[in-house]
Amino acid sequence: MDVISVIRTKRDRGELSDEQIDWVIDAYTRGEVADEQMSALAMAILLNGMNRREIARWTAAMIASGERMDFSSLSRPTADKHSTGGVGDKITLPLAPLVAACGAAVPQLSGRGLGHTGGTLDKLESIPGWRALLSNEEMLSVLDGTGAVICAAGDGLAPADKKLYALRDVTGTVEAIPLIASSIMSKKIAEGTGSLVLDVKVGTGAFMKTIEDARELASTMVGLGTDHGVRTVALLTDMSTPLGLTAGNALEVRESVEVLAGGGPSDVVELTVALAHEMLAAAGIRDADPAKALADGSAMDVWRRMIAAQGGDPDAELPVAREQHVIKAPSSGVLTRLDAYGIGVAAWRLGAGRARKEDPVQAGAGVEMHAKPGDTVTEGQPLLTLHTDTPERFEYALESIEGSYDIEAAGTAFTASPVVLERIA
Ligand code: URA
Repeated sequence: MDVISVIRTKRDRGELSDEQIDWVIDAYTRGEVADEQMSALAMAILLNGMNRREIARWTAAMIASGERMDFSSLSRPTADKHSTGGVGDKITLPLAPLVAACGAAVPQLSGRGLGHTGGTLDKLESIPGWRALLSNEEMLSVLDGTGAVICAAGDGLAPADKKLYALRDVTGTVEAIPLIASSIMSKKIAEGTGSLVLDVKVGTGAFMKTIEDARELASTMVGLGTDHGVRTVALLTDMSTPLGLTAGNALEVRESVEVLAGGGPSDVVELTVALAHEMLAAAGIRDADPAKALADGSAMDVWRRMIAAQGGDPDAELPVAREQHVIKAPSSGVLTRLDAYGIGVAAWRLGAGRARKEDPVQAGAGVEMHAKPGDTVTEGQPLLTLHTDTPERFEYALESIEGSYDIEAAGTAFTASPVVLERIA
């Protein structure tokens, strides 16, 4: 087999054979296929697509590139959730302990920020002492002891995806549906969860900008999961405006703790509870009440134990950025639009995300929102507060806020988009 013929097949809109797929994934993982060759193939896939058989084989080959985890020793059924990435999407933080408090085991392998979207591990690392990197034995022990674990995927899990993902990030090939679906599902299937709920984000702040693309991605992933014996369901959820009132690492941890304490913004609570219901149903747990587990403190108890089991101090003060800049409402009226992408880019530029893979993130950086679409605002009231340790970033962040919101005359009709748009099973 030679790589040029594999690239040419896809470049010329052909179908890759099973043998070609198995060979190219294996050879790339071993370093026999070079990054520039894989980039050319990824671009050909982005431009010309793959059919269901090719996507299934590509996913299976990525799973086979590494180890598979096994949670069969646990007494509880396992349930996991994956979000395709958004702005202010802190849902994993309250959701994992909540679902564990309701009786499932939640092995939540999470990622770091990608572009303007935040990463669960970056958020949790703002808790002093908390560790994202666990050995497989440690992961199993935290999961067994507390019911939930949120950590980084080990190097042995789908290593082909690890290499390919980093390559796609710098070659403009992230947005290919076959590559996103196989990337996410290879890790989730290799992780060994029994059931999986996918939160497929749609809107300006998501990778999928249209409902049609989100549907295609969701149904591709549900098909892959089901074919591999993982009960998989997808919710298509709105990402035209940020989730909750914060985008940034420590800012989002603080908001998640409010949700676990029975408060927090209504959209975050609604989505957390909706996803919890789906995860519990997929895990075969029918008699649990997630809203009650938030209200009675049992989810908070799991959170505290889970954070402590990973070295974190759940009572520690969270970092606060050294500098703040308040943006005031320029007029009175109704806030009719607050764009997720503009806010996500601002949080990223303030230091909550990275410009290069190796950059550190600032724990305290981000954007705090004082109003959400549909709220009435008064001229001069704080609309957004920008947080950073490095004030020279304010100007650059302000550029992305420019044009990211609309305030219309009082009385203007406003219909909020539902949090959950569709369900695909
Ligand atoms: N998340 C992943 O793990 N992979 C993708 O390709 C996109 C989002």
